[in-house]
Amino acid sequence: MIERYQNSRVMAQAAAERIVSLAQAAVADHGRFTIALSGGTTPESTYRLLASEAYASRIDWSKFYAFWGDERCVPPDDQQSNFRMAWEVLLKRVPIPQENVFRIFGEMQPDLGADDYQRRVTAFFALKARECPRFDLVLLGMGDDGHTASLFPDSPALRETARLVVAQFVEQLDAWRITFTLPMINAAANIAFLVSSGKKANKVRQVLAGPSQSYLLPAQMVQPRNGELIWMLDTDASALLPQR
Ligand code: 6PG
Repeated sequence: MIERYQNSRVMAQAAAERIVSLAQAAVADHGRFTIALSGGTTPESTYRLLASEAYASRIDWSKFYAFWGDERCVPPDDQQSNFRMAWEVLLKRVPIPQENVFRIFGEMQPDLGADDYQRRVTAFFALKARECPRFDLVLLGMGDDGHTASLFPDSPALRETARLVVAQFVEQLDAWRITFTLPMINAAANIAFLVSSGKKANKVRQVLAGPSQSYLLPAQMVQPRNGELIWMLDTDASALLPQR
């Protein structure tokens, strides 16, 4: 499903509303809400809204479990840290129990950090071997190269079919990342892309209206096996899509 919003502020409000309603539905259905937060800059305004009274008061934070779909391999107080951003604008401002926050240990040696996170996610969902956890919501962004989470074009991580979390050296950034793999992402009940800015419009068109390019377009490989896929776009990001 593709949703177009007049600007990034309206899109952030719609995203916050969607998170509140999915959280309420998940708690009513199975007693908890598990979300994989995305990093980068786009979701920041949505997280700020969630921390505001109008939204935070509608969430049962004791049943809200926060994970991350990817993390930069930096300490948690580093400006680059996806955890730091979400902590500063959202998690430290709401009554979420500390034990409900599952930070990726970006300060660890990358492969060990990925193994650790896979172990913690597997334990939380009480998974059997080769089972994939079904997050209630995986939030994703998209770079202007079509990457999502830390799955970059033509990267080995895109070909991972067994592991849930991997460490990936990203040549384009000259940096290590830890990321969910596609099997983990595509097992989710709901996946929502939040994409704004005209600099991504061409890539959005390629992903949503162009031919399949699989490994060259990681965002195009996000196809939930048994779940909802929602693309939330502002007018600038959706400008090159065929009109409805
Ligand atoms: C990250 C994100 C990444 C992000 C895109 C878009 O760690 O950077 O997980 O996938 O969502 O790069 O980033 P912006 O929102 O900053 O454009």
